[in-house]
Amino acid sequence: MFSAVSEDASTALRALELNSDSDILDVGTGEAQFAIYLALQGYDVLTGEPATDTSQYAGKDWMDKADKLGVLNHIRFQAFDASDIPFPEKAFDAVFFFGVLHHIDEELRRSVFREALRVMKPDGAIVFFEPKSETLEMVWKSDPDHPVAANPVDYASGLNITASKMTGSLMDIYIFQKAT
Ligand SMILES: C[S@@+](CC[C@H](N)C(=O)[O-])C[C@H]1O[C@@H](n2cnc3c(N)ncnc32)[C@H](O)[C@@H]1O
Repeated sequence: MFSAVSEDASTALRALELNSDSDILDVGTGEAQFAIYLALQGYDVLTGEPATDTSQYAGKDWMDKADKLGVLNHIRFQAFDASDIPFPEKAFDAVFFFGVLHHIDEELRRSVFREALRVMKPDGAIVFFEPKSETLEMVWKSDPDHPVAANPVDYASGLNITASKMTGSLMDIYIFQKAT
C-alpha cells in the first residue's frame, strides 16, 4: 500500500518541482502515509485533521511509524478543520489533500477549496488525490461505507485557477494553480 502511495505522490512531486525548503501543508493526517512519504523525501510537513473527527479515518497512531522511519522530527501536527484553516494567507508552496476531499462533508467542500487557495502562495499549488474507481472497488470490499470519490473541479467554479489532472496508480491527481 505504502509503495502505491509513493508512486502517486512521486508523480505529483515531479510535476510540482518543489524546493527542499518549501512550506508544505498536508490536510487530513489520517495514517499519515502522505506526510511520512513527504518527510522521507526530505520535506518538513505541517499536517492536521479536525480534533473533533471521531471516525475510523482520524486519530490514528502514526507517530510510532514516523519515529521508526526517522522522520518524526520533520512532521508537525496541529489539529484544524480545512474549512477554517488557522494559518495566514499565502503561507504554503503546496497544500496537499491525499485521500481527503471525499471524507469532507459535501457542504464544506467549497469553503475548504477557498481556504486552501487563501493559504497557498501566489505561485503555489493545491493538489488533491482522489481514489480511482478501481481503487474504490477494492476499498469497498473491506469498508462498504467508504464514501465515493469527489471531483475537486466541482468546487472550483468562479475561482481564478487552472486545473490539470493526472492518472496515478491508485488515485486521480488534480493540481490547481493560480491562473496567470
Ligand atoms: C482517509 S484519511 C486521509 C489519509 C491520509 N492523508 C494519509 O496519508 O494517510 C481522511 C482524513 O480526512 C480528514 N478530514 C475529514 N474532514 C476534514 C476536515 N473538515 N478538515 C480536515 N481534515 C478532514 C480526516 O480527519 C482524516 O484525517
